[in-house]
Amino acid sequence: MSDVEQRIEELRAQVAHHFRLYHEQDAPELPDADYDQLVRELRALEAEYPEYATPDSISQAVGGAVSTAFSPVTHAVPMMSLDNAMTDDELRAWADRVARGLDGAEPRYVAELKFDGLAMSLRYEGGELVQAATRGDGKVGEDVTANVRTIGDVPHTLTVPDGGLPEVVEVRGEVYMSTAVFTELNEQYAAAGERPLVNPRNAAAGSLRQKDPAATAKRRLSFWAYQLGEVVGGPAFQSHSETLEFIGAIGFPVNPEIRTFDTIDEVADYCAYREEHRHDLGYEIDGVVVKVDDLAQRDQLGVTSRAPRWAIAYKFPPEERTTLLRDIQVSVGRTGRATPFAVLEPVFVGGSTVSMATLHNQDQVALKDVRPGDTVIVRKAGDVIPEVVGPVLAMRPDDAEPWVFPTECPACGNPLVRPEGEADTRCVALDCPAQRDQKVAYWASRGAMDIEGLGEQMVEKLTAAGLVHDPADLYSLTVEQLVELDRVGETSASNLVAEIDTSKQQPLPRLLTALGVRHLGPAASQALTAEFHTLDNIIAASADELAAVDGVGGVIATTVREWLDLDANRAYIERLRDAGINFGDPAAAEAAAAARAAIPQTLEGRTVVVTGTVPGLNREEAEEAITMRGGKSPGSVSKKTFALVVGEGAGASKLTKAESNGTPIVPAERFDELLADPDAVVAEITGAGDG
Ligand code: IVH
Repeated sequence: MSDVEQRIEELRAQVAHHFRLYHEQDAPELPDADYDQLVRELRALEAEYPEYATPDSISQAVGGAVSTAFSPVTHAVPMMSLDNAMTDDELRAWADRVARGLDGAEPRYVAELKFDGLAMSLRYEGGELVQAATRGDGKVGEDVTANVRTIGDVPHTLTVPDGGLPEVVEVRGEVYMSTAVFTELNEQYAAAGERPLVNPRNAAAGSLRQKDPAATAKRRLSFWAYQLGEVVGGPAFQSHSETLEFIGAIGFPVNPEIRTFDTIDEVADYCAYREEHRHDLGYEIDGVVVKVDDLAQRDQLGVTSRAPRWAIAYKFPPEERTTLLRDIQVSVGRTGRATPFAVLEPVFVGGSTVSMATLHNQDQVALKDVRPGDTVIVRKAGDVIPEVVGPVLAMRPDDAEPWVFPTECPACGNPLVRPEGEADTRCVALDCPAQRDQKVAYWASRGAMDIEGLGEQMVEKLTAAGLVHDPADLYSLTVEQLVELDRVGETSASNLVAEIDTSKQQPLPRLLTALGVRHLGPAASQALTAEFHTLDNIIAASADELAAVDGVGGVIATTVREWLDLDANRAYIERLRDAGINFGDPAAAEAAAAARAAIPQTLEGRTVVVTGTVPGLNREEAEEAITMRGGKSPGSVSKKTFALVVGEGAGASKLTKAESNGTPIVPAERFDELLADPDAVVAEITGAGDG
């Protein structure tokens, strides 16, 4: 590298660093004059040695017109917008108009996804990208060439197709941010305490407006091409399908979900299907664009002042709406966690009416800076719970005050505490009624003791009447007591008593889950039961013994042990025992211990992974055969794996991993031998491999 080149590199790094501090973090380290000096030196060197200048150099992103705004670009062919169809009827009405315009003929349709991003026109001259422009008002857009060059999907040089390249070709399409990138960036921003990106569309738009192309590059944008703009020379096209093929051939990503149809019925089915599956893609769409395929027919149909008659956007119902944030309140859960939530003016969004939405925790409220009185964006996508995306700042009332997290529990009035370094605020009072109610409701919930008819409202009635203080009290409730409660009839009372009675027989894993010990969920409860069989055996186990169970681990073991060691909890367990609740099967425990004693522990301390089928055994039986012999059998191969057993239908990734780790690979036919004498089998296999 020459001295000049080295100095240029050095200057670029410095300028980029200070540019970010100034423009993105509002925390300049250098006085402006010193910074300007660096930029001037860089520009002078780039002008003197053009061989080292690059169009996306940081020097181009600062000062002058480019830094304050992007220069205007007049589109050679206007970038039109699309008319919308909001319903099936409107879609068919459009098809009728098209047929009339074509003297009664039904055209062939191309159905494309309507990508939720930013329209972009990319101009190539002599096969080289010379300009990238936003849509702007359709006639004049903004020059964002330097930023668009950082998008991996956008070729800088076109591939020459069979029929040759046009002298000039404008490829149009959508710049977007994939949902994976969006989620990943937001995780990073959240970890850094920065304001999250609102949605992938905004994120894409904001990223293109970065003055520093390096900042755009970090946002990892993508591109789908779907249309041509100006074309000078090159092949002639008969249909849109042909242009899409051409666009693919010159090096652009063309979306694989594009379909052609002969009738509007098929198009309508496709729209309905896409609406149903809109979240199954790795990027956001907000509809389907239906276009007439034949280009001569397009000409015949023509355009209106703002949109072509030959295309329509079938729009999905919105998943984001704005509404009034009436209040922010806090609810306290069974573990005492105080969760802020938004009380909203009811709004129909994502297919249902939403009047409440979680705000997660104190930091989230602060980060989003939502205030009671704000107009907020509410989002409900698919089955995901509704969330408040953020405020519409332009609509904020003058008197809207930042929301302050309460210092006292709304249910019991005791102080709320937020331990240093933790995101959650908690009520730590032992007698908090909100925690008590939530504990009882959790006990009765589906994944726990599954008591039908015992929802939150019923629980509140029971605790308010003083009949229930904790779940153990449920088991002495009588029909006579229940009918005394507000709006509880004879039938529902006796049904509930019967349901509660039946719940005594729930298997041990459900009881363990229902206890509500922090971190102890259904999977770990199942694992503990498989190992210990009874609650009494679990109580008798040390933290180390608990932690040794596959699927349990240190954190769960410690919290379980601590919970069991509290006198109050032990008294509670005894009351549950007295109520006649199933604590597990001691006979099963003894049988398991006897069986184990009879089986030689050949795999003690070893890990054997099984992939594919072992003849005569199902997966569980094969794994049990390993654990019965003192081994472990996790679902994935690691450096510690002693052997990989491979049967029919084996997973390729496990095999590859085992091969690269040098793990012995044992054919499933030799499983019995492996159980009996693992060292001999492995020695033979690795020996054979060497020879
Ligand atoms: S074609 C003259 N195809 O929708 C037709 N547009 O409302 C030009 N869009 O500004 C557009 N996906 O940003 C077309 N497959 C697709 C599209 C699409 C998204 C956007 C585009 C345009 C807007 C029109």
